[in-house]
Amino acid sequence: MRVVVTAGPTREYIDPVRFLSNPSTGKMGFAVARAAAERGWDVTLVAGPVALKTPKGVKRVDVTSAREMLSAVKDALADASKDDVFIATAAVADWRPGKCAKSKLKKREMDGVLRLVRNPDILKSVKGVRKVGFAAETKDVLAEAARKCREKGLEFIVANDVTAPGCGFGTDTNRVAFIGPDGAIESLPLLSKLAVARRIVGKLSR
Ligand code: CTP
Repeated sequence: MRVVVTAGPTREYIDPVRFLSNPSTGKMGFAVARAAAERGWDVTLVAGPVALKTPKGVKRVDVTSAREMLSAVKDALADASKDDVFIATAAVADWRPGKCAKSKLKKREMDGVLRLVRNPDILKSVKGVRKVGFAAETKDVLAEAARKCREKGLEFIVANDVTAPGCGFGTDTNRVAFIGPDGAIESLPLLSKLAVARRIVGKLSR
């Protein structure tokens, strides 16, 4: 079985020395890639800028922006079959600056307004494979996750409240719930991110 996993943040450059991003460290996605490789699956990990070691047996492609991440995912899923899997754990920036300045912007050249344009939705745009998404929320966690599961055509979504103790960016643990397109909820206790990852690949192999 072929599996493509996205992990980490994306960076959307404003000029050569400044960017928009978020605090994702990639730990959850790297754990998913490791757990999938442990099962003997053929794993490609498409990683944004993170400081983590590549898990054993995993092919890694490093990218910076959301558009690069989309292109790497499409390459990795070229001629994929409907039994192959795409697991999107990356914290993709939804917006990017309309243009990236060629040289460092000077304050006198700026008027305090940054024009943004929408980035592609990587998970939504991938078709023809089994898909799993993540929803990191700060309120209405289950309702928002269920909406994303339906809108993005997912087999299930992994929902977590990033404000809960032991959860969120940079932690080694996570407390998640799996939500299906029909709204079925399977809540897990607080676990290590690797244990959560093993539950995800276990669910996919059932
Ligand atoms: N995702 C993606 N590409 C994007 C945005 C999100 O692939 N441009 C994926 C994420 O990797 C995650 C899922 O979609 O698996 C949900 O991401 P999230 O940021 O929670 O959702 P959004 O679609 O951005 O929704 P909203 O802004 O309404 O919260």
